[in-house]
Amino acid sequence: MKTGLFISFEGPDGAGKTSVLEALVPRLQEKIGDTIVTTREPGGIVISEKIRDIILDVSHTNMDDKTELLLYIAARRQHLAEKVLPALTAGKLVLVDRFIDSSVAYQGYGRGLDIPAITWLNHYATDGHQPDLTLYFDVPSEIGLERISQNAEREVNRLDLEALSMHQKVRSGYLKMAEQESERIVTIDASQPLEKVIEDAYQIILEALEKAEK
Ligand code: TYD
Repeated sequence: MKTGLFISFEGPDGAGKTSVLEALVPRLQEKIGDTIVTTREPGGIVISEKIRDIILDVSHTNMDDKTELLLYIAARRQHLAEKVLPALTAGKLVLVDRFIDSSVAYQGYGRGLDIPAITWLNHYATDGHQPDLTLYFDVPSEIGLERISQNAEREVNRLDLEALSMHQKVRSGYLKMAEQESERIVTIDASQPLEKVIEDAYQIILEALEKAEK
């Protein structure tokens, strides 16, 4: 690969994107070797993992919505500067579990905070860096929440505990964004069996890699 390629994975809770990401790594390594970095938001590095613990602590029920937003943005800035940008500069394929669109979907559409303000904050924190490609894993909220409740190994975080109506707003926000930014955001039907979702994601990433080589 000549230059780095930046791909974000997005979706409502229970879409299965984290499992898909894990399954893709060995397949992609076979194809392009050891030039892959996988990471997540909020987190991915020490400082941002500490911020993550504060945000997602189930006992922090009194966290103000704007505080929540600003913590996600702070975690994003540090993670981008410390991990994502250096990896891209080194020519790596960077796969990140959640990025800028999560703040618009959750804090904007979900919590009702001002979307232009969130877009501005995202831009400020990232210096305008956007993913080359975003895979949006779409699943109806009822199915997503059902999957979370059946997955005993998954940590339950503060956002998971929100009402169905919040999760529905998040999903419809994602659908709107996917429509508005169809050049960057590709929708994958995540209500399909996991193997099929993994295959769909793999093919889309291969195409992006081929395009990046040209
Ligand atoms: P995580 O356990 O990573 O959830 P998932 O496995 O579904 O990705 O927790 C991240 C939670 O934080 C998730 O509920 C989405 C939420 N979130 C926001 O609300 N705003 C953001 O900007 C980001 C990055 C995540």
